[in-house]
Amino acid sequence: MGANIGGHLVAEELYRHGVRDIFTLCGGHIAPIYDGCLRYGIRLIDTRHEQAAAHAGDGYARLTRGVGVALVTAGPGVTDAVTGIANAFQAQAPLVVLGGAAEVRSVHRGALQEMEQIPLMRTITKWCATVNDPKRLREYIQSAIRIATGGVPGPVFLELPFDVLMAQVDDNELIVPPPLPPWPRMQADPAQVEQLVAGAPGNPNAIIRGVAFSLQPGEVLAVVGPSASGKTTLARLLVGLWPAAAGKVRLDGADVFSWDKSELGPHVGYLPQGVELFDGTVAENIARFGPVEKAKVESAARAVGLHEFILALPQGYDTEVGRDGAILSGGQRQRMALARALYGDPVYVVLDEPNSSLDEAGDAALAAALLELKARGTTFVVMTHRTSVLAVADKMLVLRDGMQQAFGPRDDVLAAIRKASEQAAQQAAQQVAGLAAPQA
Ligand SMILES: Nc1ncnc2c1ncn2[C@@H]1O[C@H](COP(=O)(O)OP(=O)(O)O)[C@@H](O)[C@H]1O
Ligand SMILES: [Mg+2]
Repeated sequence: MGANIGGHLVAEELYRHGVRDIFTLCGGHIAPIYDGCLRYGIRLIDTRHEQAAAHAGDGYARLTRGVGVALVTAGPGVTDAVTGIANAFQAQAPLVVLGGAAEVRSVHRGALQEMEQIPLMRTITKWCATVNDPKRLREYIQSAIRIATGGVPGPVFLELPFDVLMAQVDDNELIVPPPLPPWPRMQADPAQVEQLVAGAPGNPNAIIRGVAFSLQPGEVLAVVGPSASGKTTLARLLVGLWPAAAGKVRLDGADVFSWDKSELGPHVGYLPQGVELFDGTVAENIARFGPVEKAKVESAARAVGLHEFILALPQGYDTEVGRDGAILSGGQRQRMALARALYGDPVYVVLDEPNSSLDEAGDAALAAALLELKARGTTFVVMTHRTSVLAVADKMLVLRDGMQQAFGPRDDVLAAIRKASEQAAQQAAQQVAGLAAPQA
């Protein structure tokens, strides 16, 4: 039978959740965790100030789209971290801050660096707690990571008293947390878009220059606009591929760019413009190259009217499509990519020019798929300059030079466009009449 000290259990549980780097500033109260990090090969990145450690953990979380960890010592170590934690709170970044604390057995006796740390953290974290029982350390670490990364991400703070970190825990006394159930399905309250300004990553020029709208679950939004008006850029922003320079795209209230992509992926479907199929079977292409769930693959293929066609291929769903989908026509490739976007019944789907190479049957299959999924509450945003999608759209957004010219119920927007073009025609006619009139 083995035994561990609390600090080792902290490191073990962090390691189990994939943590490999921790930002810190050395302090006596947290030394037992350092010892555990040595054991598990977790890298300790020492900073000159805890504020830097917290900011670095926040930055790490944002860049890796995973959990960032800062480890700070009791009292002034914790107070120094406040600004970085508040920043992560504003940015909805999944930062886990572990703070040392005075020994439980000496509390209220003027112990070294004793102070009330939890009330300080309450307003700038998603969750904060003190671990008083070393047997429950692993359970608390798991909860901390889970809460920081789940749903709307954000920072959490765990207070770890020195005697809890030094306590010996026999393996048979250890409370090992049961695996947690998957995070609940998104509520499908998608696409709250707030005054969005954005360009291509690393390029200072704004392409999208003021777009704001919101959708209800089950609505279909058609985004129309001339070529180069920013439709594809907007699509990338809407699924969190590109960050916004200003404004936000929120899904279920959280910034889509900072959602943990592995958690977001199953709920979001995306059909990029310019379809790409990859080396692999039809089923693998539809299942996004994750584990192939046969029933889901078939259901997505049926939704776009491809099931019979696929069954007639030499090896059915196991047919290799080849890098460019060589055995498929352009329209079939596009429908296959559409099935991929719909795979797994996502609650929110963005389609960028889904019918650019579809024939009439493909167009009809697309419209039918939109209607069927919409009835089940799926929200769609469809970039298009074809009118067939408009027939099933509830809302319409007109984009020109990256700016939102109109947004609203489809018929209202269509009526406004018609009125504007009639007025333009009238003005042109008057100008022509003016030119033709004899000069006085
Ligand atoms: N990666 C990029 N880097 C720089 N400019 C880009 C990039 N992608 C698109 N653009 C520019 O942004 C504008 C909008 O492009 P895009 O979003 O593709 O419009 P649309 O889909 O409406 O045709 C265009 O002027 C285009 O040249
Ligand atoms: Mg485009």
